[in-house]
Amino acid sequence: MFLITTLLAATLSTLSSGVSAAPAAVWTPPVIEPHAGAVWVIGQYYNITWGTDDPPDQITDYYGHAILAKGGIQNWDNLLASNFVLLDGWVTVQCPDVEPADDYAIVLFGDSGDIGPQFTIASS
Ligand SMILES: *[C@@H]1O[C@H](CO)[C@@H](O)[C@H](O)[C@H]1NC(C)=O
Repeated sequence: MFLITTLLAATLSTLSSGVSAAPAAVWTPPVIEPHAGAVWVIGQYYNITWGTDDPPDQITDYYGHAILAKGGIQNWDNLLASNFVLLDGWVTVQCPDVEPADDYAIVLFGDSGDIGPQFTIASS
């Protein structure tokens, strides 16, 4: 349900930006941490951080969602955090118990999704 709602919202904002005289600004804050090559250990707590330097005048989505992607594919089963304030620039999450690998990345959603650099998840 959450996925459908988000997709619908994204689709609607894409459609409306083509016809509206004052299109809603799309803000996709860039993921800073975890940086490329960072290592997260399952069960430990980490901060996801992102840039807040350049928000649009009218922010249409104050709240963010962070999802774990593997090999560039986001997996909504691994929703790490939701409904945090995007302007804060960081949120603390617990590293989920997933298969250890070096091709994980964070997808940060505001109005739209922004995928961060690839990092490693290791077993404890
Ligand atoms: C996350 O960042 C906040 C604010 O800088 C800090 O107080 C906190 O200790 C950090 N947590 C982790 C797990 O790094």
